[in-house]
Amino acid sequence: MTLFETLERRPADAILKLIGLHRDDPREEKIDLGVGVYRDADGNTPILNCVKKAEHWLVGTQSSKAYLGSRGDAVFCDDIEKLVFGADAVNDGRVSTVQSPGGSGALRVGAELILRANPNATIWVSDPTWNNHVPLLGDAGVNLKPYPYYDTENNAIRFDAMLETLGEAEAGEIVLLHGCCHNPTGMDLSNEQWDQVADLVAERSLVPFIDIAYQGFANGLEEDAYGVKLMYSRVPEMIVTQSCSKNFGLYRDRVGALSFVAKDEEITGIVDSQALSLVRTIYSLPPDHGAAVVSHILNDDELRAEWLDELDAMRARLKGMRTLLVEELERAAPDRDFSHIARTTGMFCYLGVSPAQVARLIEERGVYLVDSSRINVCGITERNVRYLAESIASVL
Ligand code: LMR
Repeated sequence: MTLFETLERRPADAILKLIGLHRDDPREEKIDLGVGVYRDADGNTPILNCVKKAEHWLVGTQSSKAYLGSRGDAVFCDDIEKLVFGADAVNDGRVSTVQSPGGSGALRVGAELILRANPNATIWVSDPTWNNHVPLLGDAGVNLKPYPYYDTENNAIRFDAMLETLGEAEAGEIVLLHGCCHNPTGMDLSNEQWDQVADLVAERSLVPFIDIAYQGFANGLEEDAYGVKLMYSRVPEMIVTQSCSKNFGLYRDRVGALSFVAKDEEITGIVDSQALSLVRTIYSLPPDHGAAVVSHILNDDELRAEWLDELDAMRARLKGMRTLLVEELERAAPDRDFSHIARTTGMFCYLGVSPAQVARLIEERGVYLVDSSRINVCGITERNVRYLAESIASVL
């Protein structure tokens, strides 16, 4: 056997494969509720106005494309710290950040960093979680254990079961939490629940690892960072991965960050050196363009205000489409309760139909969604919502 003949074909990613399937479907009425990208009322994924303006500024003023270093743009890193941890974080000496190729790059470097600190580390992940969390973290070699999160019968968080399971975690084990807009369920911890999780994490000396990929999409920039800020005030060590794919609409430009909090300035410096050396061995340096755009927006009063307005508009549209879908489903499928959809946040929620029903939605109606019945609410428009509700009703 030759080298490559030893390999076996791998299945396509369950989310990404839907991009091509939807694109190649000739039906006019088709609907894409698959991959997590924002869409406007016309079904387009536009470039934010603030981003366009920042890009013009960048093209006009950038004087060099020389390497910046493995950290990426240090100003961007400070901006991200302020956004996620609060303004004081940049001066406290316990927090350090490296720019990363999207949130996924941050997750992978985070996992590698954990392994350098403890080759036998365990990360607890919610059941269910984003379909790439397990491959991303697991392929790095970390042990993964599930904690209960979502009750598909009652469409609610299994909070007691979650606390009970995490109550069995051992000191030093890591708990991956979704900062907001839980992917795939859209069901977030309330602030009171975050408080209880923080108590447990602190009592049992666990290490929170918060993946916040949708800041601003649930209730607002500040509100969505509640969990990160709370943990930061309560525990000596934590990891945070951040993505600008969604809140700046910079999906393909790959903009994200990995931050970690350590006990004191000296340990933070050591962890920082490890993170930089890991980056150097994996991808050497992160891409610059998107991070430079974000940094410019965040440091320019007018552009920042415009960004906040655009973010508010995206959030409002998502909320509006959830309400509309629930209303249409009440009409199309009166015997079935879909009211949980209105209680979810961010881009996603579970419809609550079986994989066989999902297959029928794709096959018979051209409605594309993940097997788990996760839908991207952004795919709903005023024009297609009735067809969508009738399609769902037709497979029940
Ligand atoms: C999603 O969950 O659809 C997004 O985070 C995109 C992706 O990479 O899976």
